Amino acid sequence: MTTMRTRTDNALEIRDLRGGYRGTQVLHGISLDVPAGSITALLGPNGAGKTTLLRMVSGLLRPTAGSVTFNGQDTAKLSPTRRAAAGLCLIPEGKGVFPNLTVKDNLRLQIPPRARSRSYEEALELFPVLRRRLNSPAGRMSGGEQQILALARARLASPSLILLDEVSMGLAPRIVEQIFDALRILSSSGAALLMVEQYVSQALAMSEFAYILDRGTLSFGGRASELDADSVMESYLKQGRA
Ligand SMILES: Nc1ncnc2c1ncn2[C@@H]1O[C@H](COP(=O)(O)OP(=O)(O)OP(=O)(O)O)[C@@H](O)[C@H]1O
Ligand SMILES: [Mg+2]
Repeated sequence: MTTMRTRTDNALEIRDLRGGYRGTQVLHGISLDVPAGSITALLGPNGAGKTTLLRMVSGLLRPTAGSVTFNGQDTAKLSPTRRAAAGLCLIPEGKGVFPNLTVKDNLRLQIPPRARSRSYEEALELFPVLRRRLNSPAGRMSGGEQQILALARARLASPSLILLDEVSMGLAPRIVEQIFDALRILSSSGAALLMVEQYVSQALAMSEFAYILDRGTLSFGGRASELDADSVMESYLKQGRA
């Protein structure tokens, strides 16, 4: 039996998105979908506009044209806070935790007011490495542990879409593997992930769909299995020279 796909099958639909910063257009008409519950990779070399795109989706930066539809709802008039309350979560590059607060408080703060009775225990069950660190300031933990805390916090917000900006950045390869395991755990809660990653081969291995951004336009959009990491890396180098 076939089922009809409806708009709401996509957690995120971006259509002809344009914009950037004062005087510089960064995105030149981007259209992409993130199916509900999927893992979708957003790849591209430095400066391609990946972070800019995530900032527009989360509402931190206003596009000059185009649309961002989240779970069937046009977001044009929604503030970043309203988008977060509706289930959209951004883990910005290197800024996913409050370093001066304890791990416990970092987790507690993330529980929405309407769910005060809920405990952070569910996050600790998924990410047990945090348990023995509960009373340490988050900033004293290793980089990898801090990123796992950022993922645990995201999980507590029960989002339907999580935007991840290079959560593996600056970590040793062994730790990067742990982060990718943690991302799989996060995804198993049912949230869709739109993942910006520099580790192309790991990102492709765990993603169902992938997009490649090339100086503000998409050069590829489709199944991750259609791409191989070496060719993607080569395309980055060509773009760098262009
Ligand atoms: N706050 C800003 N003001 C002006 N220009 C900016 C700003 N942030 C980024 N840019 C420019 O916008 C372009 C896209 O940057 P962006 O950070 O989105 O790229 P990226 O794909 O995330 O790169 P990276 O892989 O290095 O993180 C770059 O040319 C960058 O210099
Ligand atoms: Mg970036």
